[in-house]
Amino acid sequence: MLQIANTESNSLFLRLCRQTGIKPHPARYPAGLPEFFIKMLTDEGDLVVDPFAGSNVTGEVCERLKRRWIAFGIVEEYLEGSKFRFNKFCVGNKVGQSDLEGFFSQGKNLGRGNEKKT
Ligand SMILES: C[S@@+](CC[C@H](N)C(=O)[O-])C[C@H]1O[C@@H](n2cnc3c(N)ncnc32)[C@H](O)[C@@H]1O
Repeated sequence: MLQIANTESNSLFLRLCRQTGIKPHPARYPAGLPEFFIKMLTDEGDLVVDPFAGSNVTGEVCERLKRRWIAFGIVEEYLEGSKFRFNKFCVGNKVGQSDLEGFFSQGKNLGRGNEKKT
């Protein structure tokens, strides 16, 4: 059994959500959960795909552990809020359909933190 405390009550993510009026994702995982599996199953530079990313805790952990990542979500507001986890990379940038088409057609990652490759 994994016992992991959820201690994100005063994170930059939550503060920026509050400041901008974006509703924070209501069911965020504690970072220790994806961290456990990412460390067990991947090496630095590997690509981690989270198809139900929510607030994208997985992507934030991947940045810290030097994994590449790609995240999917169905609720746009949660994705908008998730950018605050990567504010030095992502604030103001939207990753659109054409970026994803490029990703899949070229077999390339969008890059760490969704930097766009041209
Ligand atoms: C339990 S939450 C994930 C929480 C996430 N691990 C985090 O820490 O923020 C599941 C997420 O899956 C999303 N979801 C549900 N159906 C989906 C779908 N068909 N495609 C993409 N995301 C979906 C929900 O909107 C929700 O944000």
